[in-house]
Amino acid sequence: MASRVSIGAFCVVVLSLTGVFASEGEETASKEFVLTLDHSNFADTVSKHDFIVVEFYAPWCGHCKKLAPEYEKAASILSSNDPPVILAKVDANEEQNKVLASEYDVKGFPTIKILRSGGKVVQDYKGPREADGIVDYLKKQSGPASAEVKSAEQAKVLIDGNKIVVVGVFPEFSGEKFDNFSALAERLRSDYEFGHTLDAKHLPHGESSVSGPIVRLFKPFDELVVDFEDFDVDTLVKFVEESSIPTVTLFNNDPNNHPFVIKFFNSPNAKNLIRCWNGQAMLFLNFSNELFDSFKSNYHDVAKQYKGQGISFLMGDLEASQGAFQYFGLKEDQVPLIVVQTNDGKKYLKPNLEPDHIASWVKEYKDGNVHPFKKSEPIPEVNNEPVKVVVADNFEDVVFNSGKNVLLEFYAPWCGHCKKLAPILDEVALSFESDADVLIAKIDATANDYPSEPFDVKGYPTLYFKSASGNLSQYDGDRTKEDIVEFIQKNKDKTTQQSSAKEEL
Ligand SMILES: *[C@@H]1O[C@H](CO)[C@@H](O)[C@H](O)[C@H]1NC(C)=O
Ligand SMILES: *[C@@H]1O[C@H](CO)[C@@H](O)[C@H](O)[C@H]1NC(C)=O
Ligand SMILES: *[C@@H]1O[C@H](CO)[C@@H](O)[C@H](O)[C@H]1NC(C)=O
Repeated sequence: MASRVSIGAFCVVVLSLTGVFASEGEETASKEFVLTLDHSNFADTVSKHDFIVVEFYAPWCGHCKKLAPEYEKAASILSSNDPPVILAKVDANEEQNKVLASEYDVKGFPTIKILRSGGKVVQDYKGPREADGIVDYLKKQSGPASAEVKSAEQAKVLIDGNKIVVVGVFPEFSGEKFDNFSALAERLRSDYEFGHTLDAKHLPHGESSVSGPIVRLFKPFDELVVDFEDFDVDTLVKFVEESSIPTVTLFNNDPNNHPFVIKFFNSPNAKNLIRCWNGQAMLFLNFSNELFDSFKSNYHDVAKQYKGQGISFLMGDLEASQGAFQYFGLKEDQVPLIVVQTNDGKKYLKPNLEPDHIASWVKEYKDGNVHPFKKSEPIPEVNNEPVKVVVADNFEDVVFNSGKNVLLEFYAPWCGHCKKLAPILDEVALSFESDADVLIAKIDATANDYPSEPFDVKGYPTLYFKSASGNLSQYDGDRTKEDIVEFIQKNKDKTTQQSSAKEEL
């Protein structure tokens, strides 16, 4: 679970660095077009609308502040749409609204949901975050799930070569297969675009003499077009989801690739894929590298070879991948490199890769012959402050093998509560200075990997106490010197060294 959360976080970091979500807000509105909802009027308002968009936000959230003027602008434009589209917001930080937030499974901010049919159908908003993009996306979402394609010109507009488009070809727009296609479009409309046509000749690729019923999926990569003829709804959903994952996902500054990058990092969460996906391979290099083509073609071959075997493949341009480098603890002088992250959070690395290494290294990894790699700050040469510094590379030694009672703080350099706690921990450490059994330590959890099992760090600071005999518990008492000292006194064990010293006495 911990690794999922961080994958999500990483995705946001990467994308904000590439500017996908970046936007310059212009404050224009005096009249507010965005409806403000709360626990008292939410259900009533939603039940009156066939289509309403709700943003769950928190006042302190930076992405929410960035979104606010864009969202307001979109609301003002959409208020004169025919029919008008209503945009609303809920302050999910407000105590009384927290039930709503949990009902709608709000895990981060902002979370935007599309509520249909008086709130009976709930979808995630997956569109852009600047006004024009929001307007376009919501116009499409509030219209029919699938648009009829009546000419080659209409087909060209819909199938623009940048995104996944699913078109049903039918001899007539009725019958069970057509109904199932419509159900498919309704289910997946927030992720893909759908169309239906009576004439396959309008479509840009694929066999044009078919009369259907057939489902034709267009994609901007790999084989470009795939036909499918099984009209069971769940089978159709699976077909669309699987066909829309590129053999190799490209990550560079081209915004057309970003939806696929987001998918790449989120796909292990997809319910139907959770069992078979066990890792993500990422090849990072400078796309201007003279060997780019050999890297690409070799990597593609390997990806094809492992298709359906639980590894997904991404190729990232150094320039677009700063967030990833930070997240994985990689260095620029290691490129070209390949890193695999498994679903249990382990990482495997091959730095300074050559095109010919790819296949053999991935095989070694698959066979279990590569050791995991840890992100670590260097082990400090002097570690003589009261609170000792733990990094990934000395974690085992200090925390598990020192035979001491260890109070360990997981902190982040930017975290205000951690800064407040720092002098208190210093005092705690000083009060145990003469007790060789007790060690007070801290680890920068953003710069070092640590075992996500048993350390379940959901926020900073998180304090764990491991007794000398290995009893581990999370400290969730008050963060005062007195309480922490008392907790340690109560839970610490005597170490073997001391008990033997006592026996000598
Ligand atoms: C339509 O979908 C339903 C539900 O998935 C399925 O039972 C049925 O067989 C499908 N009809 C056709 C013609 O495939
Ligand atoms: C990638 O390589 C090109 C050409 O050698 C160079 O100009 C560019 O600065 C490099 N990009 C990065 C991010 O190092
Ligand atoms: C471990 O801690 C728990 C909870 O504080 C306590 O009940 C238990 O007796 C401890 N076990 C050992 C071996 O110290």
